[in-house]
Amino acid sequence: MRRRVIAGNWKMFKVLSETRAFFSAFLPMVANAKHCDIVIAPPFTAISAAVQSAKGSNVAISGQDVFWEEEGAFTGEISAPMLADAGCRFVIIGHSERRQFFGETDESVAKKTKTALAAGLTPVVCVGETLAQRETGQTKSVLQKQFLSAPGSLTPEEFSRILLAYEPVWAIGTGKTATPETAADAHRVLRQCAAQRFSAAHASALRILYGGSVKPDNIKGLMAQEELDGALVGGASLDPKWFAAIVNTK
Ligand code: 13P
Repeated sequence: MRRRVIAGNWKMFKVLSETRAFFSAFLPMVANAKHCDIVIAPPFTAISAAVQSAKGSNVAISGQDVFWEEEGAFTGEISAPMLADAGCRFVIIGHSERRQFFGETDESVAKKTKTALAAGLTPVVCVGETLAQRETGQTKSVLQKQFLSAPGSLTPEEFSRILLAYEPVWAIGTGKTATPETAADAHRVLRQCAAQRFSAAHASALRILYGGSVKPDNIKGLMAQEELDGALVGGASLDPKWFAAIVNTK
């Protein structure tokens, strides 16, 4: 059985006081959640405050992005050793907003994933098709290409340490959640890629999260799909009550 992961991606929201207030409200509500791993990805400026607030709890902290070099003259970038040193255990890589607005490519996702692994972080590698790609029947080929060029470039040992997130771009922030069946179909494509590129054992151990308009009222249906091993939640992770409701739904 694959252990469920519920991760919140705060994107560019929350200053320090809001971060501390979130954790004060959220931690008691999820203190008894033993059935899943809980992860929160605050903006870089709030990582230290989040790590301090979550210390000793069942919540791990993640970066939202990372650079592929370990150090150097790269103004504005954050390295994997810096994230690990700040107390992060996870890092999101290749989010569609980075692909769309900041020039992220499959090649940079591959490089970032390797550096994150070398620093001991667990990468959450995001893939997903746009609406135009879905409507023109390209979903499967887009997912296969994204899989092969980044996760597929890892060694088998490296691959066993990553999480995948399937985030159809048309479902992000739009309120249009993929149906549980649509999401499960995409997850099956990705798991098949993992079986072909690595092994059946790698494929069955791989945890794939679904992301895109996950809310307290649709999490149960999504998690009822055996293919869905968790969720990557944007908007609904900003509210401690909503996010706790998502975490606590079995
Ligand atoms: P929403 O849950 O706001 O649609 O965002 C999903 C997402 O992009 C998580 O990384």
